[in-house]
Amino acid sequence: MKNLILTGFMGTGKSTVGRILARRLGFRYADLDALIVERAGLSINDIFARYGEPHFRALETGVIRDISSHEGAVVSTGGGAVISPVNRELLHTAGVVVNLYATVEEICERLREDCERPLLREGRSRERVSAMMAEREPFYADADLRIDTTGKTVEDVVAVIIKFLGTKG
Ligand code: S3P
Repeated sequence: MKNLILTGFMGTGKSTVGRILARRLGFRYADLDALIVERAGLSINDIFARYGEPHFRALETGVIRDISSHEGAVVSTGGGAVISPVNRELLHTAGVVVNLYATVEEICERLREDCERPLLREGRSRERVSAMMAEREPFYADADLRIDTTGKTVEDVVAVIIKFLGTKG
């Protein structure tokens, strides 16, 4: 396996799972949002506020392109990284794609106090989260493995991924 890529909606646990999984596999850990922040020298909120979402998406594609030419990393992607078909293709080229998901209720609970996600600034009602998740569902479904993280611990999720990798030889 070249890399292991984690996709999923905001609050599905990609970063927490990714960090632990990387340690377990002896891989590096890369967080695409963190790479974007580093490269832009601005927070995600500031990139959206100053330059808008299209600019953020262009930066996102840039870092995905870079990671797809490297190996040995567990990579957590931003929740919207899978929207672009170009990104999805790059992610599949980069490695095994694992999608994490959870119920709308659980996501809303996990994101309740969040201030760092610009797309939730306009509201984080059950309806809005549900609509965004539904719109993105076909893109999240484009994965080698999907895991329902609802009611699962991080350790549970890591164990499912490691078992899956074992079956792939
Ligand atoms: C986004 C999710 C965020 C971040 C940006 C946009 C999205 O990442 O990339 O705020 O479109 O869902 P997380 O999923 O890590 O919160």
